[in-house]
Amino acid sequence: MSSAAAHWTRIQGEQFARYEMAGRGLILDHAAWARALLGVTELDADWLDYQDRGGAVYRAVHVVDERIEQCVFMSPRPDLPPRTWLAGLFTKQALSTADRTALLSGQALEKGADAGPTVCSCFGVGRNTICDAIRADGLTTVAAVTACVKAGGNCGSCVPEIKQLLAETRVTEA
Ligand code: FES
Repeated sequence: MSSAAAHWTRIQGEQFARYEMAGRGLILDHAAWARALLGVTELDADWLDYQDRGGAVYRAVHVVDERIEQCVFMSPRPDLPPRTWLAGLFTKQALSTADRTALLSGQALEKGADAGPTVCSCFGVGRNTICDAIRADGLTTVAAVTACVKAGGNCGSCVPEIKQLLAETRVTEA
């Protein structure tokens, strides 16, 4: 792991491993650092990157055969891309032009592309999906949420969190 990281953790996903690192080390050449970290030495590699030197923001994506192979996102602020959106890109057979643009901008471009952290694991429904449905359809009960997006319709262990989201959304819009 990089010597610039004072702390790091590894999370195994379905088709990827995610490393989250933090540190105060100074990186002078972000592109060289990222290429060395990811082991990308070929000069003709399909390598997309973006750098905002003033803001110390750097993003890079290594694409192989049109699929995302590896990526790195750096920021001094807690504004890194949504994990669930990034995870979804690793399951795609080929990145679209919009995906490439979104990766460089560090966020999903289409509304609804980021489902958010999973709330209902039985049906794989994320927080953003539920909140969007509550707002869009004016949902006020768990039963209505279940009818709309399925969340809460099986084991029921996510029902307390759905109730919380209903309450928070109502409070937010009051
Ligand atoms: S986790 Fe939502 S119904 Fe089981």
